[in-house]
Amino acid sequence: MFSHLPATPDDPILGLMAQFRNDPRASKIDLGVGVYRDEAGRTPILDCVREAERLRLAEEDSKSYQGMAGDPAFTAAIEALALAEHPVRRDQRVFTAQTPGGTGALRVAAELIRHSRPDACLWLPDVSWANHPSVFQAAGLRLREYPYYDPHSQSLRADALLAALAQVPAGDVVLMHACCHNPSGVEIPDRLWPEIAALAQRRGFVPLLDMAYQGFAEDLDRDAAGVRTLAAAVPEMLLCTSCSKNFGLYRERIGALSLIGDGARTTAAAGSVMLGRIRNLYSMPPAHGAAIVARILTRPTLTAQWRDELAAMRERIRRMRALAASRLAATGLQRDFGFIERQRGLFSFLGISTAQVDRLRDEFAIYLVGSSRMNLAGLSAGNIDYFADSLATVLRERPGPAPVSAP
Ligand SMILES: Cc1ncc(COP(=O)(O)O)c(C=O)c1O
Repeated sequence: MFSHLPATPDDPILGLMAQFRNDPRASKIDLGVGVYRDEAGRTPILDCVREAERLRLAEEDSKSYQGMAGDPAFTAAIEALALAEHPVRRDQRVFTAQTPGGTGALRVAAELIRHSRPDACLWLPDVSWANHPSVFQAAGLRLREYPYYDPHSQSLRADALLAALAQVPAGDVVLMHACCHNPSGVEIPDRLWPEIAALAQRRGFVPLLDMAYQGFAEDLDRDAAGVRTLAAAVPEMLLCTSCSKNFGLYRERIGALSLIGDGARTTAAAGSVMLGRIRNLYSMPPAHGAAIVARILTRPTLTAQWRDELAAMRERIRRMRALAASRLAATGLQRDFGFIERQRGLFSFLGISTAQVDRLRDEFAIYLVGSSRMNLAGLSAGNIDYFADSLATVLRERPGPAPVSAP
């Protein structure tokens, strides 16, 4: 059964994590793994999470099954966080199920699409989260790409994107990152969402919004602007949310899939089909992460504390972006790194070659993903000068072309 199987190559990012852990150099900097880090390089447990866990321990009275849709207090709260008092909620056009992380939401969405319309193509931006293609392909979906990132200007190919979406066939599904695009940090600007919504309406494609970083760019409401604009315009839509980053609950595996249907009856029916897919995949989601998030979002003191802690994470990332851009400018390098400050979320492409990425790691113990994606939260006041000087050395001594390929 198994003896003929060739080994699956290590996940490049997880492999990098292991290499970093084993690197004895004191100056080492991890800019690879996609988790938030504080000034001391830790990925902390938020204080509001600790308090919610304490409450849960005291209040939990059963370990019985919870059902395929998960914890209703969680699903209501996470829906409100994404959509606020949106008319689609009032009109009972939203059905939300708790999922094991944002990845679980994406996989359930993929199964639902495949079940509902087996010939639908899933459109991804021409650079996207490294897991997106395989999650959708695993469910048997065919993939297409639309233009998104311009590596030469480090910005959005807005005209090309709109032109491509204007050709998407009815019934296909277009995945968009709601905010903090991973891996480029280049977002869809507010002014473009109404145009995309109009195209979706006209062409009849279904938007799938992946919102893994709500609150990491501007604030909770601004970051959901695209989600809310599209939800107001289109008859059908999917939304995948993750609580990994904004609640710091990575290993608890908590996220949600929301389906927006064209009416209350059709939404309930499609929701029941979604639950059927969940039943086949993992039966029911794990409870702990949802119990934490539900407590945080339904108790005003904990909510306020969470908003403060989230704002502190966001502001630190933005400070590191500004500091990286200014320290790199101060090295006297010809290249302009001002884009780092303009982009949002954890990631930007540094725009250096794979050989330069390797050299940063081998000579300077600075770890980036091969595509030159860097996690800005890996920088701190304590390592920023070492980072800027090391990069300047590498760029001066061996200038190389910026990579164009996706990670
Ligand atoms: C764009 C995007 N979507 C989804 C996810 C899934 O996150 P998780 O499954 O850890 O909740 C991530 C995580 O890095 C991401 O960057």
